[in-house]
Amino acid sequence: MSNTRSPLWHPFTQHALADAEILIEKAQGSLLYTHDGRTIIDGISSWWVNTHGHCHPALVKAVQEQAAQLDQVIFAGFTHAPAEKLALELLKFTPSGLSHLFLSDSGSTAVEAALKMAIGYHAHRGKPRHTIVALEHGYHGDTFGAMAAGAPSIFNDIYAPFLFKVERLPFPEKNAEEKTITAFKNLLEKNAHDIAALILEPLILGAGGMRIYSPSVLKQLSDLCKTHGIILIADEVMTGFGRTGTRFACDQAGIMPDIMCLSKGITGGILPLGATLCSSAIYDAFYVKDKAKTFWHSSSYTGNALACAAALANLNLWQENDTDAQIKNLTARQAAQLKRLENHPFIANPRQCGTIIAFEICHKEKGYLSSIASALYSFFLNHDILLRPLGDTVYVLPPYCISDEELARITTTIIKALDAIGSGALKSAA
Ligand SMILES: Cc1ncc(COP(=O)(O)O)c(C=O)c1O
Repeated sequence: MSNTRSPLWHPFTQHALADAEILIEKAQGSLLYTHDGRTIIDGISSWWVNTHGHCHPALVKAVQEQAAQLDQVIFAGFTHAPAEKLALELLKFTPSGLSHLFLSDSGSTAVEAALKMAIGYHAHRGKPRHTIVALEHGYHGDTFGAMAAGAPSIFNDIYAPFLFKVERLPFPEKNAEEKTITAFKNLLEKNAHDIAALILEPLILGAGGMRIYSPSVLKQLSDLCKTHGIILIADEVMTGFGRTGTRFACDQAGIMPDIMCLSKGITGGILPLGATLCSSAIYDAFYVKDKAKTFWHSSSYTGNALACAAALANLNLWQENDTDAQIKNLTARQAAQLKRLENHPFIANPRQCGTIIAFEICHKEKGYLSSIASALYSFFLNHDILLRPLGDTVYVLPPYCISDEELARITTTIIKALDAIGSGALKSAA
């Protein structure tokens, strides 16, 4: 039977099984307000985008003012002050070595542009390369190039015949990091001049289960890329703008990627925007008096003035609110919350990367479709907490403005859920 509730097709939603969507009327800070009077704590920053909290007055004001001045203008042959200022400010804010940026609309489109830049870089220098290397369990989005770079999974199974082939390095598990490095070295031995790019999520794989790995592996992989002229694409769509405890995850490894993909936190979560930053070597490979070597890539809303104004306001907030200190503070508060959880008998592999905490539920069903995920999701929502477990992985990734009380309530609810699993009451409790 088809869904008769609404003509809308929601993301990652099996409408034949899902409950009716919750109607949200407004949001402020860490809180979502429903049409029927509930207040829900947003424990995942609404899919990892909302860094400063919802409807931050400075971001709202910037968007309102920009909307009254210039909304959107074709970005080929035209430009505008918010985009120009954003480019300069963003390049100051991000790791050194990046000199130009291409704007798009989302994390996936930032990744598509990155892959095309990397392939074009080699081709335009007359030495085309055809292999992309990625990390096992990686996730880079749901467009075709991004799906190809991401791990084969339930998300892309039926599209597999349409995806380009990618070489995958084993995920650098703790104390087995050498396996990843050796696998990369083996690939290099066989095929170094055909490898165009290594794409990875630095330090923590988000959708792949909040898997954390060490900055030293990242550094070694980056060094190998440099030695062999391979473009390193750091997909900081999730990790960027403070999530891992520093402004960018790459900062912790002291590396300078050739390309960096940004989105999510770039506007503080108020408007969609993607940015693909690259080195001057990449830009220069396209910068020739030959139309055929143009970067043939666009989308209608590229450089949207409202999104650029929001991103600029976001960067201002980092200065004015001392967001670096806020992140340090949230990192410490999250460590305290993890302490409350880590000895619970139903928790495995408790871990933290900056402002993110995660753990696995000890449960017989593993994997993304594990029924425990939907039971927990419902349990949390019934307690007015928004958490969306990735299969048996539970994580908390809150806005930086979350209060002590709200954070503590999330943990208390998780403990209640774990206890309910213990007593076998989770489903009835939900
Ligand atoms: C690391 C990473 N890259 C890319 C994407 C895709 O971003 P979007 O959903 O904005 O297309 C995501 C989304 O979660 C992500 O976590």
